[in-house]
Amino acid sequence: MNEQRIDTLLNAMTLEEQVSLLAGASFWTTVPVERLGIPSLKVSDGPNGVRGAGSLVGSVKAASFPVAISLASTWNTGLVTRVGEALAQEAQSKGAQVLLAPTVNLHRSTQNGRNFECYSEDPFLSARLCVAYIQGVQSQGVGATVKHYVGNESEFERMSISSDIDERALRELYLVPFEAAVKEAGTWAVMCSYNKLNGTYASENRRLLTDILKREWGFDGVLMSDWFATHSTAESLNAGLDLEMPGPAKYRGQKLLEAVRSGEVRAEAIQDSARRMLRLLTRVGAFERPAPAEEQAIDRPEHRALIRRAGAEGTVLLKNEGVLPLDPKRLKKVALIGPNAKTAQIMGGGSAQVNAHYRVSPHEGIQAQLGGSVVLGYELGCSNHKLLPLLQEPLSAEYFNNRGLSGQGVSGAGLAQAEVMWNDEPAPGITAETFSARLSTRFTPDEDGVHHFGLVSAGLSRLYMDGRLIVDNWSAWKQGDTYFGSGSDEVTGTLDLQAGRAYEVTIEYASPAEGMRAVRVGVTRPLGDAHLERAVRLAAGCDVALVFVGHNGEWDTEAVDRPHMDLVGRQNELVSRVASANPRTVVVLQTGAPVAMPWLDAVAGVLQAWYPGQEAGNAIADVLFGAAEPSGRLPQTFPVRLEDNAAHGNYPGASGRVRYGEGIFAGYRHHDTKHLPPLFPFGFGLSYTSFAYGNLRLSAEALQPEETLTVTLDVTNTGQRAGQEVVQLYVRDEQSSLPRPEKELKGFLKVDLAPGETKSVTLTLGMRALAYFDDARAAWVAEAGRFEVLVGSSSRDIRARAAFTLQREWVRPPAQAAF
Ligand code: BGC
Repeated sequence: MNEQRIDTLLNAMTLEEQVSLLAGASFWTTVPVERLGIPSLKVSDGPNGVRGAGSLVGSVKAASFPVAISLASTWNTGLVTRVGEALAQEAQSKGAQVLLAPTVNLHRSTQNGRNFECYSEDPFLSARLCVAYIQGVQSQGVGATVKHYVGNESEFERMSISSDIDERALRELYLVPFEAAVKEAGTWAVMCSYNKLNGTYASENRRLLTDILKREWGFDGVLMSDWFATHSTAESLNAGLDLEMPGPAKYRGQKLLEAVRSGEVRAEAIQDSARRMLRLLTRVGAFERPAPAEEQAIDRPEHRALIRRAGAEGTVLLKNEGVLPLDPKRLKKVALIGPNAKTAQIMGGGSAQVNAHYRVSPHEGIQAQLGGSVVLGYELGCSNHKLLPLLQEPLSAEYFNNRGLSGQGVSGAGLAQAEVMWNDEPAPGITAETFSARLSTRFTPDEDGVHHFGLVSAGLSRLYMDGRLIVDNWSAWKQGDTYFGSGSDEVTGTLDLQAGRAYEVTIEYASPAEGMRAVRVGVTRPLGDAHLERAVRLAAGCDVALVFVGHNGEWDTEAVDRPHMDLVGRQNELVSRVASANPRTVVVLQTGAPVAMPWLDAVAGVLQAWYPGQEAGNAIADVLFGAAEPSGRLPQTFPVRLEDNAAHGNYPGASGRVRYGEGIFAGYRHHDTKHLPPLFPFGFGLSYTSFAYGNLRLSAEALQPEETLTVTLDVTNTGQRAGQEVVQLYVRDEQSSLPRPEKELKGFLKVDLAPGETKSVTLTLGMRALAYFDDARAAWVAEAGRFEVLVGSSSRDIRARAAFTLQREWVRPPAQAAF
């Protein structure tokens, strides 16, 4: 359907019908207009899989891809496009026409709970990756939704905080990936952030939504709110917010109609937003192909292979003192130690969660590659959970149509696991807003002794063992950090149990009047020194000790930041003690953000494996044994300590505001300017081979405005193995009237090289690569003068330099500054 037909349809619609398009119908769908054959649209999260319409736990199974920080570590835009294409197929299998992804907020504070879900601290790298991702998704006829526009760099008070960002930092850093998503990738949708920007909610910030996004950049798609982030009727619509999500409408519908009738909102503004909705429906082919109502779980072999490859390619080798890759022929006994060895940590938490087809743990992945001849020892050592491990027993459920468990109960479907989120009515005839439930199971401990039980719930909950109240999260329920802020913190109780005896476990639950309805039951035996010592003894008797430490989706999650930059629990102690028992200790880190590594000097190797998706264990084993080359490079600086992070001192904010006080000096720009050596620099990653750079040449020594500069160099694989190098190009402005970073990434390319092979790499620089944003002139400016091109293997490993001069100043207003 072309624009003319969209206009015809629009003109046939009544005002009421146009208004009805501008808010959701349900949590994931928009309102159809049956009279005119306008279908409903279905959207789904995003970004490392497509969950469908089910709840965060137990929804229809889906492929789980590497999280964004892992994908970004590949620095491989072609690979990211293929992931985007695969995600579009996943969306189609869930009947969704629009994917709520990618997330392109920048890594600012290392404590951000959603750090894992974002690509990088660098706007250029984020922009290249998000363009690649969106192009992949949209090439298959599925819409992408770049989010969260803008300033959502932490989860602290995210629904209300004001991100106070100066104009230069906004233009040179935080807006850049969004600008690229619109101008280059032609994204079909954008999602506003929860926070305010400089005092005004993003969802009603006219300058942001209309002046910059729609007018300057020419965005012609749909701008939607984040879920429940609409705060007004006329203000948000007039500011440029097209779609209130989720539905049903809270601020739109009748209220919006009244606002039009009273003259607060112009009918043309309604038409413009409705036109955008029709355009989106057209783009995703909704008029020709109504989305199938049923969601399918399709576990495709080609997705498995892609996930495994991407997970391995996103793994960053941070240290290697001759221990990796491991040669199974030379190994007799291998120690697998740590809380992430047998538990597959494949993704972060929050709205990015999917119900993965399967999860390969490192233990399984390594076992598969070692075969039977090598002895694999295992010790947990210590724990890293935030919430007690989930009770594994299935439960039966009985529901009551009141909040007091009284009267006749209705038995509901059995629950496969001890975490439930109720989206709709829990059982036939039971009202979602006012119900209670009794969940029951039996628990037979393996060991004698003290057990901890834990409950978190959105709603009230309590747990009984053999009729005795053990955990009371009912009489003094308090709002905490779980379930996007609608749930309590974990409340625990302990009980001495006998091994082999079956105990009756009963959980009572009462739903809240609004917000999420959920409960989660955890149980564990406390771990002590004995577990740590067993791990140390195992390590001492093995050829190599592989220690799997890090975090999980309880720490790296939405709506809450991490309290610090350290590995949680006794994990640092575990690594140090294992390393002193075995000099061939390799640490495999799985985190969604940088962590401090006080044991770094004592270990022989470190791999940062992030959350690589459902093939986690296979991808990690591929790198450990050399089936895949470690070609990942850090998309974020690892500071030595939290205090070295650029945001320190201006994080998390106070009195409702967070000042981005570091301005344009974020990430490596901060470390460079302050001469602060990082633990591992931006762009860093080792390989199993080595590379030499040479013969750097520029297409010109002097440039005129609007000309491009071509940078060429030769890269040689000087080692014995095939490998991939990420050639990084930074630009430095030698003389500038405004302060500028020491250098900024403006180009990169990943090259495959056989041993001994040399390839010539060519990168180009346009005027924007040389420009800063001059807020006094409200324009991009590349000043006349000398610039330096720095080419290297990381931001701190510059291998070649060359200079050129821009002969005359280049100035462009933002609308005309091509990306
Ligand atoms: C998140 C969005 C997500 C939406 C729908 C919000 O809490 O911030 O990223 O797309 O929920 O699940």
